[in-house]
Amino acid sequence: MPRAPKVHPLPDPEVARAFRRRLHRWFRAHGRDLPWRRTRDPYRILVSELMLQQTQVSRVLDYYARFLERFPDLPTLAKARPTRVREAWHGLGYYARARNLHALARRVTRADGVIPDEPDTLRTLPGVGAYTAGAVASFAYEKRAALVDTNVARVLHRVFAPDAHPKSGPGLKRLWAIAEAILPRTGRASWTHNQAIMELGALVCTARAPRCTVCPVRTHCATYAATGDVQAGRRTAAE
Ligand code: ADE
Repeated sequence: MPRAPKVHPLPDPEVARAFRRRLHRWFRAHGRDLPWRRTRDPYRILVSELMLQQTQVSRVLDYYARFLERFPDLPTLAKARPTRVREAWHGLGYYARARNLHALARRVTRADGVIPDEPDTLRTLPGVGAYTAGAVASFAYEKRAALVDTNVARVLHRVFAPDAHPKSGPGLKRLWAIAEAILPRTGRASWTHNQAIMELGALVCTARAPRCTVCPVRTHCATYAATGDVQAGRRTAAE
């Protein structure tokens, strides 16, 4: 009889706590000082998250500063002409993001002018998917909200669920469930936690060349335990 594939259960609370402690300590020492980490302004967070959806941090930095100089708040953006918004986005690509951001600004301004703080409500806005909704709730409002983007999916897949393929529907669902299960208790700590997992995915647990030797959570990592070398992630990421 063929053996059923091993399904990893959700991490138990003790494991999650130890994982968080190591991860957060590492983030406090190594996390980058990025402009959108210095603010809790929902508008500024939203602009950063839409820009970062398909573009690397290093490219976003200049555009982000210039965009906010031109459109420092939601009402200013709502009033702007579409051509001005497009100009400010020129070179970043994926203009649907700019159109969505503009439409969002107009819609929210026409309503009460307040960017919502609940992921389910955020998701009804143009250009806001599950990840961005979690990011705005967590990063702007310090809500206890989970988020999974490509970086987070890769980290959770390698550490907790090597059997959950991050690009399949059921795999992603499992990874969201894991992201929820390992969230800290408070919204404040969830801010650090979500930024820290993203940062680990960007700086250490990278797709092509994971740096397991300096990884603060390698003792928790199922992929590292199974292979014991940096090639581990390379194989899973390339699949
Ligand atoms: N990509 C998307 N959101 C990010 C954030 N807050 N920090 C770094 N990279 C990101």
